Amino acid sequence: MFEASRPPDEPCSPEWIRRLPKAEVHLHLEGCVPLDTIAADGARRSGVDFEPQTGTPLFRDLAAFLAILDHSCALVTDGGRLEKIAYEIAVRAAANGVGHVDVIFNPVHWPAWRPDLQGFVGHLDRGFAAGEADMGVTASLCLSLTRTQPPGESVELVDWLLAARPDRVVALSVDGNESVAGHTGRRFAPLFERARGAGFRTCAHAGESSGPEGVRDAVDLLRVERVDHGIRAAEDPALVEELAARAVPLDICPTSNIRLGVVTSLTTHPIERLRAAGVPVSVNTDDPLLFGVSVTDEYLRCTEAFSWEPVVLGEVARTSIESSFAEPERKRWLLAALDHFLEDACAPAQRGKDSSDGGL
Ligand code: ADE
Ligand code: ZN
Repeated sequence: MFEASRPPDEPCSPEWIRRLPKAEVHLHLEGCVPLDTIAADGARRSGVDFEPQTGTPLFRDLAAFLAILDHSCALVTDGGRLEKIAYEIAVRAAANGVGHVDVIFNPVHWPAWRPDLQGFVGHLDRGFAAGEADMGVTASLCLSLTRTQPPGESVELVDWLLAARPDRVVALSVDGNESVAGHTGRRFAPLFERARGAGFRTCAHAGESSGPEGVRDAVDLLRVERVDHGIRAAEDPALVEELAARAVPLDICPTSNIRLGVVTSLTTHPIERLRAAGVPVSVNTDDPLLFGVSVTDEYLRCTEAFSWEPVVLGEVARTSIESSFAEPERKRWLLAALDHFLEDACAPAQRGKDSSDGGL
């Protein structure tokens, strides 16, 4: 969608941004179910409207969006399709310079698989393993609870996680609609404590359908390592200062926030204010097939809207890798690839400068 009018090697050109080594840390499996699944079967029944020109679905708000996920994911009952969905995540990652993905999955949306979560993650594991073998993209899974689910169901899921310790599932998360659920920090806190004690990483959706108080709860009560979205923290300057001082990373999804009505436009999106205030931010797609975006698109849009320079893009990519749940060795490798890429990108300009300095 962006014209590559500049030389591909020029920093901040679409091709340069595409190749910039990065991770994607806020990506829902539910948002990676191909659109034709919905279009073929569920669109009419679930009331999805499609934008006539782009063919992308239109969503009224988060609640309507989550209902569509229920519908589309329920249509995936075959293990081979799950494997393909996972494999395709790796294909898209590789095509966007993404070396590692943290993929959130929420069993609430997958009724066919509720009785066999072990089988569910087994299929995903096979798809991601094939993706790693073919494209070198590593993937971790984050099991997500739902803000609005009955408390006993969340407990059951955490019991399962801790007992099964399935391959590739490295984190506990919580998503869903906080404006419907209200303050749930205290309810979920013991579950996050248990998961942390058992060695799982943690992240939580907050500051999307909740205000700054949701972000505060995620950080202070759930004690998560990373906040998914977190953008409404920008409404509370003291909280912004605290997030910056504690270096709490926010994994932000600009297009999702616009499409779900959290913000009205990219120019008014708080990502730039948060970043400029010293909060570590990464850029992600949330639900790429439903929003019709790629990671490269998201980086490009921010670059154009906020005039991001190579150094800023490098920082954002670094945050994405550092805040990911990749294995330490993999992180070191990706960070080295990023350093190398940035050195290379800046080398011609630097060399030119050095030689003109030397001539004086
Ligand atoms: N599940 C998938 N996308 C989501 C979002 N943006 N917010 C909450 N839950 C989600
Ligand atoms: Zn999300």
